[in-house]
Amino acid sequence: MIFKKSAPLRGEITVPGDKSISHRAVMLGSLAKGTTSITNFLNGADCLSTISCFKKMGIEIEQLPSEILIHGKGLHGLQPPKAILDAGNSGTTTRLLAGILAGQSFTSTLTGDASIKKRPMTRIIAPLSQMGGQVESLSNNGCAPLKITGHSLTPIHYISPVSSAQVKSCILLAGMYADGFTKVTEPFLSRNHSELMMRAFGAQVTSEGTTATIIGNPVLEGQKVVVPGDISSAAYFIAAALLIPGSELLIKDVGINPTRNGILKVCEEMGADIQLLNKREYCQEPVADILVKYSPLKSVIIEGSRIPTLIDELPIIAVMAACAQGTTIIRDAEELKVKESNRLDIIIQHLTSMGADITPLENGMEIRGGNPLKGTTLDSHLDHRIAMSFAIAGMVSNGATEILNASCVDISYPEFYGDLARLSDSTCC
Ligand code: S3P
Repeated sequence: MIFKKSAPLRGEITVPGDKSISHRAVMLGSLAKGTTSITNFLNGADCLSTISCFKKMGIEIEQLPSEILIHGKGLHGLQPPKAILDAGNSGTTTRLLAGILAGQSFTSTLTGDASIKKRPMTRIIAPLSQMGGQVESLSNNGCAPLKITGHSLTPIHYISPVSSAQVKSCILLAGMYADGFTKVTEPFLSRNHSELMMRAFGAQVTSEGTTATIIGNPVLEGQKVVVPGDISSAAYFIAAALLIPGSELLIKDVGINPTRNGILKVCEEMGADIQLLNKREYCQEPVADILVKYSPLKSVIIEGSRIPTLIDELPIIAVMAACAQGTTIIRDAEELKVKESNRLDIIIQHLTSMGADITPLENGMEIRGGNPLKGTTLDSHLDHRIAMSFAIAGMVSNGATEILNASCVDISYPEFYGDLARLSDSTCC
């Protein structure tokens, strides 16, 4: 896929449903009694992996054109899968599902693609083992494939070394199968979609500071879930509109949960002209329409507690920083090394090869913005967020930028290139 300097982006767009919320709706819908209806579900490969895993465990799921219907069987209604559960490229499927599987009365094996088989699972194996769960890394390297022998579990208070919603959610889901109070404390608050949705389904979940608590054996009831647009997908259009002179975009129905909206705060600090219109809630999740206008940007410092609120947006934020005036510092972003790819290294390599002035830091980078970017050939490393971030970089660069392995956007945003092309005349070919 080739990208060239773009005409202004103008008009309206609705981005696909939130990936994190879509996964959770399938999981909780499967464990609830009765039918759960999900609208604006993200039909990306990751969420389809979650659906396929629950179908393998006997859950009837109807994938209608405008709605997903999950015929849940209650907390103890899953059946032993006849085949290996395949999470594909999805860390959320792997880690959250592992928490559920640890509490079942059967043994299962959970695996994924080459990237999943390299991502750290010790972060969930450790707490699940403390709860009495039996989770074995079959390659003995702390990664998938995981053999999970289900047990009744013991509640724990887990002090997590990482701020990770996947770890927190894994433990809270396992906590549904433990008698008593299961607690997770993380260094900084990560996205809280699990807590909000578990509560909506009827579980007793409380949050205080960075500690979330669940009481075991909840009775979950099927719900109507309306999934907000994914702010992580909206981020590419926000960046494109801010960077391409003359742009003005209205991005409709976007989730702006405070544990996810770090990108908006960062853009504001960079001098962006962004307005949040028509604020409302979908199933306890705050939503707004985002009006973005082209704005000259300045540098920003990103570190500490706000890293988890924008962890998936750091690749596109780095692209914005390379085009901004001044020196942007990103620190405390070690989690970027263990995403779908080593995003820290790849961002630095790709921006450097486009002519940006960057110094790697131990867990971050210093970006001296303002050098004009030049087009080049870049590999996505099969990482959807790298592909989308550098497509946008290509649209503000001189010359042509070729993205190799560009189709990996299917993971979270199958229509990304088409939507981008629709908003600008000469975007991609
Ligand atoms: C996710 C949590 C984040 C994020 C991932 C989705 C989730 O990971 O990077 O894309 O749905 O819980 P961590 O919370 O593990 O950093």
